[in-house]
Amino acid sequence: MRLRRSRCLTCYWHDGAFVVHPHPHGAPTELHPAAAEILAAFEDWTTPGEAAARLGHLTPDTVDEAVATLVRSGALLARGGAAARRDEEIADRWGAWMPEASFFHYATQDLYDSPPAGDPPGDDEAGAPAPLPPLFTGHPDAPRLLLPRGPAGLGAPFERVLYDRRTHRDFTGEPVPVETLASLLATVFGPVDFIDCGRGALYRRTSPQGGSRQEIDAYVGVLGVSGLSPGWYHYDGLQHALELLSEGLTPEEAAHLCADQAWAARPAFLVVLAARLERMSVKYPTPRAYRVCLLDAGHLGQTFALTATALGLGPSQTGAFRDSAIAGRCGLDGTGHTPLYVLAAGHPAPEPRDAPPQAGIPAFGSTTLLAR
Ligand SMILES: Cc1cc2nc3c(=O)[nH]c(=O)nc-3n(C[C@H](O)[C@H](O)[C@H](O)COP(=O)(O)O)c2cc1C
Repeated sequence: MRLRRSRCLTCYWHDGAFVVHPHPHGAPTELHPAAAEILAAFEDWTTPGEAAARLGHLTPDTVDEAVATLVRSGALLARGGAAARRDEEIADRWGAWMPEASFFHYATQDLYDSPPAGDPPGDDEAGAPAPLPPLFTGHPDAPRLLLPRGPAGLGAPFERVLYDRRTHRDFTGEPVPVETLASLLATVFGPVDFIDCGRGALYRRTSPQGGSRQEIDAYVGVLGVSGLSPGWYHYDGLQHALELLSEGLTPEEAAHLCADQAWAARPAFLVVLAARLERMSVKYPTPRAYRVCLLDAGHLGQTFALTATALGLGPSQTGAFRDSAIAGRCGLDGTGHTPLYVLAAGHPAPEPRDAPPQAGIPAFGSTTLLAR
């Protein structure tokens, strides 16, 4: 029988044990780290005998025993089998996204088919509920600006807002009034109401958020807002205040932080969505909950875009940014408090450069409309 190492395989240490984790077909299996060397001998279709000959310092029995375990775990696949075909197909489809993205995706899927045994989520070893982390992030020593609380000015018809929303990459450069920024921040990130979760209060926003954990904080990079000097601020939703974290932000730095995208120099402000993981993980101690953090960021991004549009601003967003540099500017530790998404807005240029033209017949002519 010829065997090959699964292409969809990640090995790591967890709780002091070496784990071989083939995905999605196999189970995470704790093994001696020597398993890595044995797996290396199965780079291409190989018989256990050929592998044993290559691994001369190990006895054939040791290799046979390890091979049996690795086959059971799904780390070694038999030639011609359905599992090997699927493994190749997954490696092909996920291509350059492997191993990081495919591992996260598959290692956190089908979780509810076999729920982990043990204590209910959020309970400590003694069975006592873990204490709730603080609901809001605060920088009590930072200089702060309590923001105005005038009418938000969100009366634009919903249908118009929905269809007018576009990603803007060109802006007039005219400063955005601080009142407009304040309305946007309060509407998207401020608390709407507080609910009793049975162990304390949680708050809700205008966006749905997994478990109402509100693990995402907003950091504002001000470039051109009247009444605010350029710099990085944290939006404190509890006080409706901006806390100054670091002074100064130039258009060049904004573009640099957004992975050298030229348009990012032009908005009036950036908003960094940063997850405080503990607020989510204390309730959901499963890696799948990280998916929820990303989904939550998406919801906030959409509410931001619609609210900015309703306020007459042009919204933008980017998944391409310099994570560590942004974390540094926002005073985030980059470990338990880490940036996920960067939003931006400003007064939209009436005739934007770089706006894509509408597709005409030539574009449709070179487009496959339907997947078979
Ligand atoms: C999660 C996400 C990430 C994005 N990242 C970028 C980006 O890095 N650079 C950019 O210019 N646009 C980015 N965009 C904007 C998209 O290109 C834009 O939404 C798309 O072209 C559709 O246009 P519309 O938003 O006007 O409907 C991003 C959009 C989303 C939702």
